[in-house]
Amino acid sequence: MDQAHTKHIVLGITGGIAAYKAAELARLLIKQGFTVQVAMTEAATHFITPATMQALTGHPVLTNQWQDDKGMAHIQSSRVANAIVIAPATADFIAKLANGLADDLLSTLCLARNCPLLVAPAMNQQMWANAATQRNVQQLIADGVTLLGPVSGVQACGEEGMGRMLEAGQLAQDIAAAFQPKILTGRKVLITAGPTYEAIDAVRGITNRSSGKMGYAIAQAARELGAKVTLVSGPTALAHPHGAQVVDVTSAAEMFEAVKQRVSDADIFIAVAAVADYRVAQASEQKIKKCDAKLTLELIPNPDILAYVAALPDAPFCVGFAAESENLREYAEQKRRTKKLPLLAANLAQHAIGADDNELILFDDTGEHRLPRTDKLTLARALLLHAAMLYRKGKSK
Ligand SMILES: Cc1cc2nc3c(=O)[nH]c(=O)nc-3n(C[C@H](O)[C@H](O)[C@H](O)COP(=O)(O)O)c2cc1C
Repeated sequence: MDQAHTKHIVLGITGGIAAYKAAELARLLIKQGFTVQVAMTEAATHFITPATMQALTGHPVLTNQWQDDKGMAHIQSSRVANAIVIAPATADFIAKLANGLADDLLSTLCLARNCPLLVAPAMNQQMWANAATQRNVQQLIADGVTLLGPVSGVQACGEEGMGRMLEAGQLAQDIAAAFQPKILTGRKVLITAGPTYEAIDAVRGITNRSSGKMGYAIAQAARELGAKVTLVSGPTALAHPHGAQVVDVTSAAEMFEAVKQRVSDADIFIAVAAVADYRVAQASEQKIKKCDAKLTLELIPNPDILAYVAALPDAPFCVGFAAESENLREYAEQKRRTKKLPLLAANLAQHAIGADDNELILFDDTGEHRLPRTDKLTLARALLLHAAMLYRKGKSK
């Protein structure tokens, strides 16, 4: 499967309490560029109305195989689908899939498909643990169906345990990932993101306007390609990317420590964080009191994390980022040469920092490659494909 845009998804909704999350999922899929056709079981219509799903997707919802004016909705709808996603998938529907039953429109559509099937189970923890459900799930996996979740947590019935459906945002990320080539499977990618915060005293500090959005998008894009991702993140307001191991740090020194501890395991290191170049020599443990005299802070340089990693004897494939406010090309090439990086992504700080969109120029041994202005996830995917191609080329030498 390839890029999200122009791809068509059949979103199957079955009769579980988590059906309310399917409305948000449909909205997020459409936002990502998919077209969505909803099909619901009869039980699902007791939890969320077809009218809601029709309004969100702009297409009439398929519910009944006997009231179809085209006659063969189960065949037509599955032929145009690039993937079928069942979210939520009840224990009952999983049992039907595992046994090839086709006694309603949605199960018939799944049986008649010639595209990938992704299933997001949602049920009470006892229903999930039941030997019959577990047997059915194993059968689905053996049949090549992709399971998305479930996860453990508090359930609608008040019990706690395994069986909660993934959140809509997490499912949307997993569904997008299913359309990406798995060219980094088995590879470990270590990423730094966000700003750092260097304390001046107990309440004040030096930081910068980095939002972490680019680094988080790169973490998501690397995971989509099949990599195992560790994200060392400075303080940001962003939700942790689904499926990545996240290490939260505050200062440059903490970020350096976190990277040093993990770098020997990494195949690829991508330094996206806007690490403060300087920290206060002697941060005060107490709040500095205001007075009329001048206050002078002594700043000392922070360690250069990327330079350290790139100079390691057994260094991973290193990707640097350069955010400059002027002379972008000159400073970027200089940074790439000094640190001996195989790949550097350069952006103008005034275009990039905090924004949802960005544009990049990639510098490598063959020259420069422009990635035109677009959202940061699309850019991250293009950057990762380029990095993976260079990494694999380097390995095959
Ligand atoms: C209030 C209520 C909530 C339910 N929640 C779930 C659920 O979360 N997961 C599940 O597997 N079944 C749940 N069920 C049971 C299913 O609705 C039932 O098995 C139904 O036959 C499923 O039909 P379907 O698989 O065709 O959608 C629930 C039933 C009720 C009445």
